[in-house]
Amino acid sequence: MTRSSQASATVGPTREVVSDRLLRGSVRKSYEPVVDIDWDAPLDPDKFFLPPAVVSLYGTPMWDAMTRQQQIELSRQELVNTLSAGIWFENILNQALLRDLMHADPTSNATHYALTEMGDETRHMVMFGKAIERLGAKPVRPRRYQRVMINGLPLAFKGSLLWVAALVGEEIFDSLQRQMMDDPDLQPMVQRLMRIHVTEEARHIQFARDGVRRRVREMPRLHRMWVANLNGVGGLFFRFLFTNPVPYRRAGLDGRKARRVARRSPHRHDVQISGFAPLAAFLEEVGLMGPLARRLWRRTNFLPAAPSRAVAGGNAAPEDGAHETYEGSAVLRIADEDHAVRVRLAGHLDPIDGRFHWRGTVHGTLPDDALRRPEALLTANGRTAAARLTERTQQGDYSVAGLGTPPFG
Ligand SMILES: [Fe+2]
Ligand SMILES: [Fe+2]
Repeated sequence: MTRSSQASATVGPTREVVSDRLLRGSVRKSYEPVVDIDWDAPLDPDKFFLPPAVVSLYGTPMWDAMTRQQQIELSRQELVNTLSAGIWFENILNQALLRDLMHADPTSNATHYALTEMGDETRHMVMFGKAIERLGAKPVRPRRYQRVMINGLPLAFKGSLLWVAALVGEEIFDSLQRQMMDDPDLQPMVQRLMRIHVTEEARHIQFARDGVRRRVREMPRLHRMWVANLNGVGGLFFRFLFTNPVPYRRAGLDGRKARRVARRSPHRHDVQISGFAPLAAFLEEVGLMGPLARRLWRRTNFLPAAPSRAVAGGNAAPEDGAHETYEGSAVLRIADEDHAVRVRLAGHLDPIDGRFHWRGTVHGTLPDDALRRPEALLTANGRTAAARLTERTQQGDYSVAGLGTPPFG
């Protein structure tokens, strides 16, 4: 399957190699949900359809006032809501991918992988549709005007925006599914469905992340700012989706009241923050978490309210022992040239991916094209680490981020 196609000029060898690997992975492990899920197996009347802790009202007085049967019913309706949204999200993605392919080389591995991904998504749509039917529920359908708007999205999702939108649509569901699929309280059929989805989505996410990484390097500054800030709309969308009144009403609750309670629930915020954490780290790493986006993700409680509190004054006194900060002089090496700077850095061990994420601000004079060559080495406190300059701040400083062992600590 190795091809030395003409597409190399536009797609690039790295993309071809990544796509080749993903194609081989797809041959090795893909599912056909029509036969790979036992649709006739009886449902367990005492098991949840989403783990209780992931149901939007969990941890609130409203939840505590419900009977176990009501709680199970709400978990069923919330799963149906999520599966329904999954179907039309996959529809948008497939439309956008197919439109994109009209401009792509049909002989390249990247094209072949995009087509394979579309095949996965069509099978997921069948799987989700069959699951809703098996659960004995009605799908949650957007209103007509919403469907018209949704159908317009594939026209807007092109190039880097397509891959960022794909990640926003896939990664939050994916990380939540990873957290819940082995829960023993969960219906076995739902566990199976999530396992199948997570396996195939892992490849989609790699493909989209690779697409973003490659494009972000060549992206004109204005375009990068646009993509980096527009992704914050994802927070509004997910808040709308996760607190849609329809599942509450179907479970016999007051839809508006339940929505208000869920949106204010600190436990719910924690669930959302842990679901968004892997994507947030990625967007930070590639410099696509703009200030407006950060504010929107924060306002919709997908990012913690004030994560930079620990940085103030360079005071390394974390409440939970997981955060570390550093303030002081440092040397930033860009394109073999050393620059003396001051830095304020903070980092934490991410409980989701188990890696140390650090970021902060660089004060100092750097070459004009520093952001165009964002790969750098930062030495602080006697340690050196790979760093990425991610943006120029409004105050004339630079944002820097890194993953792995920090240059301090
Ligand atoms: Fe999918
Ligand atoms: Fe996907």
